[in-house]
Amino acid sequence: MSDRGNFGSRLGIVLATAGSAVGLGNVWRFPYMTGQNGGAAFIIIYLACILLLGIPGMVSEFIVGRHSQTNAARAYASFSRGKAWGFIGILGILTSIIILGFYAVVAGWCLYYLGASAFGQLKGDATFVQHYFQTFSSDPVKPAVLGVVFILITHFIIVRGVQNGIERASKLLMPILFVLLLVLVIASCSLPSASRGIEFLLKPDFTKVSPNVFLEALGQAFFSLSLGTACLCTYASYFTKQTKLLYSATQIALIDFLIALMSGLMIFPAAFSVGVQPDSGPSLIFITLPNVFQQAFSFMPTLGYLISIMFYALLVFAALTSTISMHEIGTAFCHEELHITRSKAAWILTVACSVITIFCSLSVGKPDILQLWGKSLMGFCDFITAQVMLPTGALLTSILVGWFASKAIVRDEFTNRGTSNSKLFFNLYLFCVRFIVPVGILLIFLHEFEVI
Ligand code: TRP
Repeated sequence: MSDRGNFGSRLGIVLATAGSAVGLGNVWRFPYMTGQNGGAAFIIIYLACILLLGIPGMVSEFIVGRHSQTNAARAYASFSRGKAWGFIGILGILTSIIILGFYAVVAGWCLYYLGASAFGQLKGDATFVQHYFQTFSSDPVKPAVLGVVFILITHFIIVRGVQNGIERASKLLMPILFVLLLVLVIASCSLPSASRGIEFLLKPDFTKVSPNVFLEALGQAFFSLSLGTACLCTYASYFTKQTKLLYSATQIALIDFLIALMSGLMIFPAAFSVGVQPDSGPSLIFITLPNVFQQAFSFMPTLGYLISIMFYALLVFAALTSTISMHEIGTAFCHEELHITRSKAAWILTVACSVITIFCSLSVGKPDILQLWGKSLMGFCDFITAQVMLPTGALLTSILVGWFASKAIVRDEFTNRGTSNSKLFFNLYLFCVRFIVPVGILLIFLHEFEVI
């Protein structure tokens, strides 16, 4: 297809793909998991997961996408030379629609809190902040509207196309995100007794390492690298023939890791300096932290005010570069398969995701009504995508690329037709994709369903 466009520069490729990877998963999930699972011990395991499973998984999706230069469903079908494997692409598209549906709810909360902090509404003691969050998140209208607004912002970036929309937004947002994070890390680490927070994050505690910790690290690595939903495959279809796949995957994984680590260095020192033990999930960013900022910077309230605005701006930007990537998977599919304009295709996605967002948002306020398998709809969407659909997509991709695809094609893509990467790297990659990735994912499944 000649009109599909490409990323215009190497920097654009790296920033857009890193933008997909860097998201709420880095800014609040990683710090919390590290703190609870043995600090540096967890970080070492997480790094091993990235190197042995994450990067090979990324390269596999890149190979499928860049070789086929088309949307996810068609890419998988054509890569396997039979239509049978096309369903991996379809599965990926469905997964990304559901993820975008519930991710937009949290992103909408971040947007609201950005406004609330700018208007000085988050001032008050711990009980006030907790009450503020509960009242807001269980409201039937406001959070749902904000979730939809977030999808619409994503929509208007997506319709501008790959180069003018996705690439330009990433080139603008990623540097701002990095600068904001850097400022917040410096502010947080210069607070009194910040060193206790740094120590909590970085001191290895091997007594906390259990098999569970390995599986947590692996799940986190997959989600954080945007693996398993054909997202990377779709972005790779806009790569050029010169893009070095292994090199790019390594670069993006390292950026993602660095941002996650910096997020920990932003949250823990501030929390420890006011004697708060950071907890997990939504309560960390919407209840604990607003209060932490106020207390920690009480010596200079204006600084506290600015810090909290910067923090929510950071979350909004991180979420936005991720929602763009989730939206693009389905938009590219509808545009190319239904032969409609990109704008119409984007509307289909926007409407479908908005419906999920509205119901997920309602389920937070009324968990007893909107329930599936004993979970709120929001919790269910999170579970079924992150724990079932995403690892399934990654598992099938590695089986396809490692065992069923033509080895010559895989080698050609990996080495850019023999012009880059040594034989050693290719063999290492093939070994990981054939054995380590499938076995790792199967272990996650067996553990999840309590077989081991
Ligand atoms: N990686 C993003 C984060 O850390 C989330 C994300 C974006 C994602 N695109 C994805 C996760 C595709 C799975 C699949 O927040």
